[in-house]
Amino acid sequence: MSEDKTKAVKALQGVKGMNDMLPTDAPLWDMFESAARSMLRAYGYQQIRTPIVEHTQLFVRGIGEVTDIVEKEMYSFTDSLNGENLTLRPEGTAAAVRSTIEHNLLYDGPKRLWYIGPMFRHERPQRGRYRQFHQLGAEALGFAGPDVDAEIILMCQRLWDDLGLTNVRLELNSLGQAHERAAHREQLIKYLEGFQDILDEDSKRRLYTNPLRVLDTKNPALQEMAANAPKLIDFLGEESLAHFEGVQRILLANNIPFKINPRLVRGLDYYNLTVFEWITDKLGAQGTIAGGGRYDPLIQQMGGKPAPACGWAMGIERIIELIREENLVPDTQGCDVYMVHQGELANQQAMIAAERLRDAGLDVVLHATPDGKSGSFKSQMKRADASGASFAVIIGDDEIAAGTVQVKQLRGGNVAEGGQQTTVPAEQVVEFIIDAMVDEIEGDDEQ
Ligand code: HAM
Repeated sequence: MSEDKTKAVKALQGVKGMNDMLPTDAPLWDMFESAARSMLRAYGYQQIRTPIVEHTQLFVRGIGEVTDIVEKEMYSFTDSLNGENLTLRPEGTAAAVRSTIEHNLLYDGPKRLWYIGPMFRHERPQRGRYRQFHQLGAEALGFAGPDVDAEIILMCQRLWDDLGLTNVRLELNSLGQAHERAAHREQLIKYLEGFQDILDEDSKRRLYTNPLRVLDTKNPALQEMAANAPKLIDFLGEESLAHFEGVQRILLANNIPFKINPRLVRGLDYYNLTVFEWITDKLGAQGTIAGGGRYDPLIQQMGGKPAPACGWAMGIERIIELIREENLVPDTQGCDVYMVHQGELANQQAMIAAERLRDAGLDVVLHATPDGKSGSFKSQMKRADASGASFAVIIGDDEIAAGTVQVKQLRGGNVAEGGQQTTVPAEQVVEFIIDAMVDEIEGDDEQ
């Protein structure tokens, strides 16, 4: 194929690392979202929606100049109409904080906020790592105590329980305060300088800019060096330790197991004190399904009145994949009623009946075809069955003449014995189907 042709074909495919969510995936996303919404409601969180595009400076200042995200992963561009430097959001915290400051949301006290939506990072696509991915995030703004750190962790545990996820573990660390990190950093740089000859390119680059991140290396050759490095936790003062212990005490009291990982540093610069990650071994290398922590300095750093804060975000694609791995996929529910019809008048009546059924709250699919012809009753009934509907409502010339419809139960009840087809006066179809559904539920309850 010529280069031009290859380009043209590529342009008609999705962008690498950015995925379609197909109808077969939708029930899983729905399941996740509805579990998440009810969990968030249970903890008093309110939703916030911010734009997908923000000023590039927001992320540079919020996330930190020497982070992977800001150095090499942001989709940034210049608005050709006014020359502004803009970026597709790589995460949600900076924008939630920006919006909170801009709209003075903390004027009447602390706020618990949540958000959901696409994020963009130009990473090397692989299993569990995408260039467009989706996060659910929660941010507790204006709370200082370790109780809220623990609460945001309990929220995650509740969501895993609600979804039925069991293969997840919690890792915890404290990053202390800036002055404690500075003292540690000095010692750490000295220590790392002793390993100049074995440090890889990434680590050399980070040695003086972000040495904590060197400890986060995945390079097997550097593991021993990282394991023996000076630990930040040994540089924490009394207050930071008390905070960390406070979080741990509440987790233990609530039976949440965790492991303290002194090398857990997170990839964004805004954190202090508590940081945590939820990890699974079921997804290969990209096993972190959620991460977060405290970021007390950020609100002030971004121009707001000083206010403490903490939060987390989870990667929805990774959680969906874990749900699949653990075989927790819900049965896809079909519609309640499929309308089968033949002839123009029957088509009209089917549409009227379908609207009345929908008025009563039922989900109804009308038979329709690519050529606009309805086809035989037999082929329509096949479609009705495949739709997963509980009932088919059938209308043909005979039914039009008699002012009736046929109702056939396709699932549950007596279907095992061949299903029952009943002639019902057209105006009573809604009542008939609802009664049949109630009987079905009551029958189930008696069993
Ligand atoms: P993060 O660790 O960068 O934190 O991202 C949170 C989660 O998003 C990760 O644990 C992972 O599940 C998912 N994730 C990140 N990058 C990708 C990707 N390329 N493909 C698929 N999933 C991905 C934050 O974003 C912070 N804003 C979290 C936070 C909120 N901290 C305080 N409040």
